[in-house]
This record gives sequence, structure tokens and C-alpha cells, in this order.
Amino acid sequence: MTDYERVLEKTEQHLIALKAAGIRFLGVQPETLAGLHEPVARPASLAVHQPLAEPIRAAARVEEAVVIASPEGLKPAKDKEAAMRELREKAMVCQKCPHLAGSRKNVVFGVGDINAKLMFVGEAPGADEDQAGEPFVGAAGQLLTRIIKAMGLSRETVYIANILKCRPDTPGQSSGNRKPSGDEMKTCLPYLLEQIELIRPEIMVALGATAIEGLLGKTEGIGKLRGKFQVFRGIPLMPTFHPAYLLRNQAMSEKRKVWEDMLQVMEKLGLGISDKQRGFFLKG
Ligand code: URA
Ligand code: URA
Repeated sequence: MTDYERVLEKTEQHLIALKAAGIRFLGVQPETLAGLHEPVARPASLAVHQPLAEPIRAAARVEEAVVIASPEGLKPAKDKEAAMRELREKAMVCQKCPHLAGSRKNVVFGVGDINAKLMFVGEAPGADEDQAGEPFVGAAGQLLTRIIKAMGLSRETVYIANILKCRPDTPGQSSGNRKPSGDEMKTCLPYLLEQIELIRPEIMVALGATAIEGLLGKTEGIGKLRGKFQVFRGIPLMPTFHPAYLLRNQAMSEKRKVWEDMLQVMEKLGLGISDKQRGFFLKG
């Protein structure tokens, strides 16, 4: 057995052990899996004994193990749809936060294509979203929709969800928002994690500090993190400002920052970018 085969076998055993321990989600970058198909550089002395097809077969073995460890990743389309429907039905009747269940008009589960390559994650529904049962339909949502369109995409071709599925209650007020509490985020997060696991987007965008805190547990501030790809469970995650921030701060410089973050996302998705798109918000 070569060192390569020993590592391969250990890797395979490790993945099977993870699967047995109930792990369903693996942080493996698609590039890493693809990399396994590349022939490995090996000492000339070994090369003689190694048929060229070996790395390919080896890659297939690890991939197989990853698939075993991560069945959600390869759910047939029908199962995925059914699983998402089931999850939505569960969320629609959720009573885990009695104060929110008591004050909400609607649970705001998510909207878009469950096969989307790009997923946006916001904070929580506001009054408009609570009323409509759909995320990002109020003023901030309309700005997000324009940003998505400027990227050459649409609300129907991406997926949009929030950290919280219920509007944080603001007793005695019909408008206004409050930040979700830590407990509310912790309680609701499993729904979002399951959505992410089912959708398995290629890239995610976290809108604002609460989304970053919920997903990455980072509280160092969106100003520091934005524009730099993070990784969430193997998925590249771009933190950017929340559109509500852009509504409060109308400066061209801030719009441009968000737009530059979206250009990075488009580049990573392999979307074509026109000169016009590159130039948005560069001058008034
Ligand atoms: N998410 C993961 O956790 N792993 C992958 O390989 C891709 C997405
Ligand atoms: N702000 C959010 O974070 N999410 C919404 O759905 C609407 C406004």
C-alpha cells in the first residue's frame, strides 16, 4: 500500500465514522473534490508502478464516501422539494418562541428557487414581511430586489431567507423593528441551517451584522468583514451591508461598497459582468 492509498483509506474511514455519528453536512469545497481528480505528483520511483488512472479511481472512492456522509447533497429533485415543503410546514406552525408565535401575522419562511446557486440571508421579517409572509418585500426588500436585478438575476432565480422566520415583536407598535435576541436566533437557526443544507447554494450573501452573527458567530462588525469572503460550512459567504443601511445612508460610496461585494459574488459565480455593471455607482 502506498502512502497515498493509506491516506485515502483513512479519509474514507473517517468519513464513514462521521456518517455513523450522524454528521450530515460536510465542509468540503467543490474545488477540493475536483482537485482529487488531478493526478498527484509522486516520486519518479513510484510513478513506474502507478498506472495513470489510479488518482481518478482514488478520487471516485473518496467522493463515494463523501456522498455516503452527506446524503442531503445528492437528494433527487423530488425529495428535495418534498423535504423543503415539509420543513416549511413545520416552520409555519412553529411555537418555539411563544411571544413571537403570539404576535406574528405570518411565518416568513423564504422565497425563490430551491436549486439556486446564490442565497441571500437577512435578519428578520419586518412589519411588511410579516403582513405578506414573504421576506424582503418592504422598502429594504425593494432595494435588495433592485440589487439582485442589477446583478442580472431575479428574486425567482436566487433564494432569500432570514435568520428569524418571525417578526421580532414590538409590543404596542405596528411599525418599527427590533434586533432579534440571542435566544430567538438560537431557537430559529435550525430552520435556516436546514434550508441551506437542502439548497446547497454555491455562494451565500449575508446581509448585515445580524446575519453574520447568526451564521458565523462573529460580532466584530460588518464594516470590517464586508467585502471579504468567509466560509460557512464549506460555502463561500460574502458579508455585506444590509439594504436598510443603504436606505439610511444614501452616500454613493456606501452603495458602491455593496455593489463591489456583489461584483465579487458575480465573479465567483462565473456570471458575465458588463462594463456598465462594473461602473455602477462610480460617479454621481
Ligand atoms: N457545502 C458543504 O458543506 N460541502 C460542500 O461540498 C458543498 C457545500
Ligand atoms: N430585513 C430583513 O433582514 N429581512 C427581511 O425580510 C426584511 C427586512
